[in-house]
Amino acid sequence: MLSLSLGLLLASGSLSSGLLTRGRDTEQVPTATISNKGNGGSKTVFVGRTLSEFDQDVFLGIKYADEPTRFTPSELKTKYASNDSNSGPLSLNRSGLTSSPGSVFYNATQYGYDCPAYGSDTTKLVNMGLAKLNEDCLNLNIIRPKTGSQELLPVMLWIFGGGWQQGATADPRYNMSYITQQGALNGNPVIGVSINYRLAAFGFLDSEEVRAEGNTNLALRDQKTAMRWVKQNIQAFGGDPEKITIWGESA
Ligand SMILES: *[C@@H]1O[C@H](CO)[C@@H](O)[C@H](O)[C@H]1NC(C)=O
Ligand SMILES: *[C@@H]1O[C@H](CO)[C@@H](O)[C@H](O)[C@H]1NC(C)=O
Ligand SMILES: *[C@@H]1O[C@H](CO)[C@@H](O)[C@H](O)[C@H]1NC(C)=O
Ligand SMILES: *[C@@H]1O[C@H](CO)[C@@H](O)[C@H](O)[C@H]1NC(C)=O
Repeated sequence: MLSLSLGLLLASGSLSSGLLTRGRDTEQVPTATISNKGNGGSKTVFVGRTLSEFDQDVFLGIKYADEPTRFTPSELKTKYASNDSNSGPLSLNRSGLTSSPGSVFYNATQYGYDCPAYGSDTTKLVNMGLAKLNEDCLNLNIIRPKTGSQELLPVMLWIFGGGWQQGATADPRYNMSYITQQGALNGNPVIGVSINYRLAAFGFLDSEEVRAEGNTNLALRDQKTAMRWVKQNIQAFGGDPEKITIWGESA
């Protein structure tokens, strides 16, 4: 009796994992393609990752600006090279994608660097290996539910808090998979975006000299640069550029 029910359990277990495996095999690696501005029609293909447990595709660590020159404003990034991603290179072979002339592939499977910051949260994140700090930190993350529909989704762009001294999109408390999943479960699917911006002196240095150069409030200007990137490019990820809501916490 016991062995019979165990046998049934095992049989049903292997059946469901067989179904899961078949689903995965036919699944494409998620990609989003944008045109590189003024670059002879070249394209950038962002290659993300599917989170089957959330029924989502995520694109992480997309740079909206290159590493800024310290204490100067960031510039909207409109061209990509294959070695731009801090996830590292993308192996076409491993992704199952095929190269095409003029296309740059960007590995968007891992969080990028977070901005240098000061405070107990940052210390904890770094000590736990959850965040890596680097001035090349102007990146954003896109979390998209799989809706099976072509309809463009509203976008919620999250700005973390931390007193302008600390904060990181890789902080697990800002893991947008959960709230994005709630939207989908409630029949109101949205795309979640989280952005990094410069912090502490890197983002908010002030002095007569800084003011004379017009280089104040760089962090807020980073946020604006990120918003412009989202406005220009979110449609390629299934987002509606006319329906972007910014939201955030504290700072
Ligand atoms: C990326 O590649 C370009 C050439 O395509 C090179 O000039 C540049 O130094 C490389 N950057 C890094 C960070 O390796
Ligand atoms: C993307 O980069 C990660 C390392 O950050 C690597 O593990 C993964 O294999 C890369 N993806 C592809 C498809 O090459
Ligand atoms: C792709 O990977 C397979 C298995 O690792 C290897 O045999 C093959 O040579 C690779 N192909 C290319 C084009 O790198
Ligand atoms: C959210 O957390 C889960 C569980 O650790 C993880 O699998 C997933 O990749 C995270 N999502 C994002 C967007 O970081």
